Amino acid sequence: MTILVTGGAGFIGANFVLDWLAASSESVVNLDKLTYAGNLETLGSLQNNAHHVFVQGDIGDRALVDKLLQTHQPRAVLNFAAESHVDRSIHGPGEFIETNIMGTFRLLEAVRGYWGALHDSPKAAFRFLHVSTDEVYGSLAQKDPAFTETHRYEPNSPYSASKAASDHLVRAWHHTYGLPVLTTNCSNNYGPYHFPEKLIPLMIVNALAGKPLPVYGDGMQVRDWLYVKDHCSAIRRVLEAGRLGETYNVGGWNEKPNIEIVQTVCRLLDELRPQVDGTNYSQQITYVTDRPGHDRRYAIDARKLEQELGWKPAETFESGIRKTVEWYLANPQWVRNVQSGAYREWVQKQYAGAELVP
Ligand code: NAD
Ligand code: DAU
Repeated sequence: MTILVTGGAGFIGANFVLDWLAASSESVVNLDKLTYAGNLETLGSLQNNAHHVFVQGDIGDRALVDKLLQTHQPRAVLNFAAESHVDRSIHGPGEFIETNIMGTFRLLEAVRGYWGALHDSPKAAFRFLHVSTDEVYGSLAQKDPAFTETHRYEPNSPYSASKAASDHLVRAWHHTYGLPVLTTNCSNNYGPYHFPEKLIPLMIVNALAGKPLPVYGDGMQVRDWLYVKDHCSAIRRVLEAGRLGETYNVGGWNEKPNIEIVQTVCRLLDELRPQVDGTNYSQQITYVTDRPGHDRRYAIDARKLEQELGWKPAETFESGIRKTVEWYLANPQWVRNVQSGAYREWVQKQYAGAELVP
């Protein structure tokens, strides 16, 4: 048995592949374009693992995907591949439309062709699992209830609009063609191998480098944080037992304002890697210009997944963030290696004037 994972060299996809192969002997074909966010070093421990087949390529390359499906005959396709960074989508939405919408469309078409030709039993067992985000639901006011699966779609950024479009395509391929799909909409992840353009790893990396910690606007935007390995266990559970055509929200019931996240990271670093002059890392916090169209609050109601499929996160925010900070302290080489020329250019463009370039 084999599964095909797309985007398995990125943050969540790689954590998923590592966890999957640690627990199972079912092979993984890993299709990843290796954009700036894809990193084979993350998968280094799988180099001699015969159950992992890595293929560099685009989910939108129909001929390649057709060939992979025919050759490996997967029982499921899990689509993690995407352009994922909101700030990048504001600077340049084109790639987001190309991969998240057109790429998902082309992938769905390839999978539909493959699935349609399967015999009864593998056809009935086949699944297409689409990994999506809570950002498709838009922004909540302070006292609004958390997003349920029936909350209307109100995406506000080019990123979330492109993910919303991909969710709609997946839904339509189920309703129109009967493709056996599952969709997960998850809140903000954090944990090992997180690219340091996102809030938590950026704060850890900048704090250690003595750089400013750039907090957008008033820092009171709320996100709902989930340790990445809990997201991976939720995806495994939905793949195993999710009802066809359903969407499942995934979240950790950990709503926190950004400034609190940054202060927590600083406190942990003060404890685990105190500065020689005794100053606190929080002194590096710098308020910067807000993100255009910045969503104020996300919150996930994960009761459907808990009640129907019995899933619960294993980590609290306190245990997960400690593990995360410890991981970054133990893996400075991984961080140095992702801070390539392209990374430096991005930081310069996004935080111009804030002296953040490493
Ligand atoms: P990421 O940016 O770290 O990784 C994306 C991966 O996809 C990279 O390895 C990249 O090389 C690959 N990729 C990009 N375009 C591709 C293409 N056209 N063909 C093949 N591969 C391509 O993203 P992530 O944070 O790991 O997110 C994974 C998925 O989870 C995305 O779909 C994202 O929308 C979703 N999601 C992320 C979060 C989060 O907090 N990071 C939360 C909820 C949902
Ligand atoms: O909610 C799920 C989404 O979470 C995923 O779909 C996205 O792929 C993922 O990138 C993430 O999006 P966010 O925009 O919420 O994550 P980011 O880490 O970029 O920002 C988290 C919050 O921190 C957000 O309110 C913006 C703020 N922020 C971010 C950066 C990079 C800052 O204040 N300063 C920063 O330098």
